[in-house]
Amino acid sequence: MTVPDRPSRMLAPSRRAQLSLFASNFFKHPRMLGSIIPSSPFLVRRLLAPVDWARARVVVEYGPGVGTITREILARLAPDATLLALETNPEFVAYLGESLPDPRLQLVAGSAETIQAELSRLGLPPADYILAGIPFSTMPAACRERILGDSHAALADDGAMLIYQFSPKVGGDLRRLFSRVEKGFEPLNILPAHLYTCRR
Ligand SMILES: C[S@@+](CC[C@H](N)C(=O)[O-])C[C@H]1O[C@@H](n2cnc3c(N)ncnc32)[C@H](O)[C@@H]1O
Repeated sequence: MTVPDRPSRMLAPSRRAQLSLFASNFFKHPRMLGSIIPSSPFLVRRLLAPVDWARARVVVEYGPGVGTITREILARLAPDATLLALETNPEFVAYLGESLPDPRLQLVAGSAETIQAELSRLGLPPADYILAGIPFSTMPAACRERILGDSHAALADDGAMLIYQFSPKVGGDLRRLFSRVEKGFEPLNILPAHLYTCRR
């Protein structure tokens, strides 16, 4: 009889490290994270469903955290495409820099507020997709409006902003700014999440 390396119910060490890094940062910055654990596979699948991977050349992710969505984006992204990830938490940035050595990933230690400056610094065209799970409902209104306005301006004409939130509060801002907003909901996540597909 062969004995498995570890019982299937145990987590791989890298997954354990991600969960523990995420949870410890939740206790330090609860409003910046919003949840004690990273997004579930159900939420990630639903969030990424609208993406046309054959067309996506510039994808931007706000708040990659420990890279739960980032890994899934990189697994689907074309070899010549770029993923620009903006993260404010220095511990997450250090972890991602070490654990995701991928030449397509441009990791920036900074806020989503710098999206336009970072796209032009890297000489990138407007984004095909911007994915965001940053806590729009708890940040100051001026900051939220600036990030949403700059994201709208940073999108290609046929681009889309894909957002998930634990509160539906941002919906009104999105409908004022974007010409088309489709709403979804994913119950299988801690916390259940509201999703928005926003097109210019
Ligand atoms: C709800 S967590 C999501 C983490 C990860 N995307 C996931 O799905 O598991 C929100 C993340 O956004 C980051 N964040 C919060 N405000 C931000 C901002 N203005 N710009 C960039 N990242 C931000 C937090 O540090 C955190 O990593």
